[in-house]
Amino acid sequence: MSGSEPFFAGEGITLRFGGVTALRDVAFSVSKGTVHAMIGPNGAGKTSLFNVITGLYEPDAGAIRFSGKSLTGLPPHAVAQSGIVRTFQNLEIFTNMSVLENVVTGAHLSVKYGPLDFFLRTPRYFREERRLREEARAELSFVGLDADVSLPAAQLPFGSQRMLEIARALAAHPRLLLLDEPAAGLNIRETSALGELIRRIVARGVTVVMVEHDMALVMDISDRVTVLNYGEVLADGTPAEVQRNPAVVAAYLGEEA
Ligand SMILES: Nc1ncnc2c1ncn2[C@@H]1O[C@H](COP(=O)(O)OP(=O)(O)O)[C@@H](O)[C@H]1O
Ligand SMILES: [Mg+2]
Repeated sequence: MSGSEPFFAGEGITLRFGGVTALRDVAFSVSKGTVHAMIGPNGAGKTSLFNVITGLYEPDAGAIRFSGKSLTGLPPHAVAQSGIVRTFQNLEIFTNMSVLENVVTGAHLSVKYGPLDFFLRTPRYFREERRLREEARAELSFVGLDADVSLPAAQLPFGSQRMLEIARALAAHPRLLLLDEPAAGLNIRETSALGELIRRIVARGVTVVMVEHDMALVMDISDRVTVLNYGEVLADGTPAEVQRNPAVVAAYLGEEA
């Protein structure tokens, strides 16, 4: 047996929606402690791949392995409990809750009291709830939202709502963080702050896989890039390698045409 199994990998992933093949025989491999970008034109299958990884969609074929274990067939909560947490291309924050409460919902994934503690309101329950709120505050501070903890989440500007979603994901203690178009809708200043935030996340020991259209950001912070096109892997390599790959250039020119 070889001891060099990748930290996170997919093999032969195929996903069909009726007549549409969203993913065809997709393979990828992500090393621990890196930023791995998934790029490709609209409709290439990037979000579908995240949905397969997180257990929202069951693939027609293929396998995903994380940290030495198969994720195939696991429901979303079990995938999250294994250490894979995501954000969404279309933000999924709870607009009727405060900023802090949004992050506490993420932290609940790591809760250490049982149903009995909850119903009896035991000391353990109160201790745990206090710990979760402290962790949530720390994550909000980490993403730069310390000043906004008690605001209703709906009142945050769009760019801050994206940061809030990242704070909520971090509060769930991911070992692998999946970001689906984290820079979408951000201005240049916010995008540069996002790049710096992703570097700090990796410095905490979290591996990051991101779907992203902002090529400047992708080229700046990615260690490796996988390019999807019409549901298939078109190229895979360092940012510089994929940037000068003629097939990749053609796929993107096709999108602009
Ligand atoms: N739930 C769904 N039902 C039917 N078709 C879908 C569904 N989700 C995605 N698709 C189709 O799968 C393909 C890939 O979509 P998607 O994964 O969203 O691409 P990307 O994120 O790269 O833009 C598209 O043709 C899209 O229309
Ligand atoms: Mg998408």
